[in-house]
Amino acid sequence: MNASLEINDVHKWFGSHHVLDGFSLRIESGEVVGLLGPNGCGKSTVLNIVSKLLPYDLGQVRLMGKPLNELSYRARELVGVCTQHCALYPDLFPAENLHFFARLYGLSEKERHERVAELMRIFELENFAKTRVGQLSGGWRQRLHLAVSLVHKPKLLVLDEPTAAVDLEARMDLWRLIEGLRDSGTTILLTSHHLAEAQRLCSRVALMRDGKVLAAGSVPELLARMPGQAVAKVQSVDGEAVVQRALGLGWQVRQHADQMRLLLPQLLSLREIVDALDGTKVSAVSVLPVTLDDVYLELMDDELTPPSTI
Ligand SMILES: Nc1ncnc2c1ncn2[C@@H]1O[C@H](COP(=O)(O)OP(=O)(O)O)[C@@H](O)[C@H]1O
Ligand SMILES: [Mg+2]
Repeated sequence: MNASLEINDVHKWFGSHHVLDGFSLRIESGEVVGLLGPNGCGKSTVLNIVSKLLPYDLGQVRLMGKPLNELSYRARELVGVCTQHCALYPDLFPAENLHFFARLYGLSEKERHERVAELMRIFELENFAKTRVGQLSGGWRQRLHLAVSLVHKPKLLVLDEPTAAVDLEARMDLWRLIEGLRDSGTTILLTSHHLAEAQRLCSRVALMRDGKVLAAGSVPELLARMPGQAVAKVQSVDGEAVVQRALGLGWQVRQHADQMRLLLPQLLSLREIVDALDGTKVSAVSVLPVTLDDVYLELMDDELTPPSTI
């Protein structure tokens, strides 16, 4: 069966800046894939290419099995896009915005009325039916934006940092909506730099750096790559003693930005850790199971894990 999206060895230059450097990613129908990486690593560029907002220079992109270059305008019908730059009309009401975009995508008048009513209901926008979009809070505007991107029932939904500009409560609401879309089988490619968001929403994540994917897999698969199941963050005035003790216990040690992290073979209690480090002048310890943040740090650490070996 064809994948929903296949991106194969894509390169993109902005002038002399090599922004995508052999980017590859495959998304099966029904998957929610998160593209994660630091600012400027090329996430939006990938989404803009997939949405046909931007051409690419080398490589292949196939959407529903068809080369993107041959799809011309149809690609826009297959993909629903929620970019970081809000494309909504601030002087119109929510339903008017939905109608506008539905017309743009060629829905008949009957389809349009049904679809707009359905989206107003699903996204609980009815309470704001008489509020102009410019007066909506950031969270509600983003909800409407998401609804607009779905107006033509796209086969692939592309979301660029869908919760970046909203407060925590609105973020949780958007998460629930995206989970609802995921559970009803929508194929989604989203970018985020909240690793917790990706951990919650995505069936698979791709960790990106410098225009290419360093590692991809389900969250459990990526977590299993860590040489430990838990991370203890330790403060001590005698870091060297902690390092030596930890190594003696068979725990690996990582130091990032003045913070010492010990990779534990299994989740231990604080007391067990403090007892194991007894005599090493530890002033603070916290311990958590490994998260995507840890995988990310591990991959970002060139010296420990050169990209070519991942
Ligand atoms: N239209 C453009 N012209 C020139 N450089 C660009 C353009 N769009 C993005 N870039 C550059 O490409 C790199 C990747 O950008 P982007 O894909 O937006 O990264 P991300 O979404 O991961 O933050 C950045 O260095 C950015 O400055
Ligand atoms: Mg971006």
